[in-house]
Amino acid sequence: MSPLFKAMVPLREWERLMVRRYLALKHKSCRCAEVGVRDGYNADRIIELCLPKRLFLVDIWDEQWRYDLVMQRFSRPDVTVLRGDSVRMAQTIEPHTLDWVYIDGDHSYDGCLRDLLAWSDCVRAGGSIAGDDYAFPAVRAAVREACRVNRGLRPVWRWRQFILKADGR
Ligand SMILES: C[S@@+](CC[C@H](N)C(=O)[O-])C[C@H]1O[C@@H](n2cnc3c(N)ncnc32)[C@H](O)[C@@H]1O
Repeated sequence: MSPLFKAMVPLREWERLMVRRYLALKHKSCRCAEVGVRDGYNADRIIELCLPKRLFLVDIWDEQWRYDLVMQRFSRPDVTVLRGDSVRMAQTIEPHTLDWVYIDGDHSYDGCLRDLLAWSDCVRAGGSIAGDDYAFPAVRAAVREACRVNRGLRPVWRWRQFILKADGR
């Protein structure tokens, strides 16, 4: 890890904490989803801070051992684990029923755009779509394109994380 990258790590964690705080304050007792969970590091922190009424954890989990780990870690009544392609999983959620979604799955331009568009349909008017790695050019371009295609999405924060507000237009 380069010294510059190392120095950025605490900054990234601080910003992720701020995003979770924003979501917790804005959406009390929320129904929400994390898209791209891996071993559940961020999911644990979402549960701690946001106290969701229902949290959907969505990932394809290519490695069985990781899926088993997550199933063990999050076997609780307020969490639903959805294994499969994120866009396909979005179609299993009733439209406009989530307060927010945090997107950290496929970081390619096409993958991220597909997630943004599919999951913004799951979020209610007044809800939020947040995500990681806005510093990646592909993610930045996908967020920009999603806001162009879906005129109901409005950026409220963009640095290394992003937050969009869904105004339901
Ligand atoms: C960066 S990791 C997520 C890290 C997690 N959000 C955290 O901070 O603890 C990205 C995850 O997205 C998942 N992923 C990538 N493409 C996906 C897709 N099309 N559908 C579902 N999950 C996908 C990968 O399996 C991987 O676990």
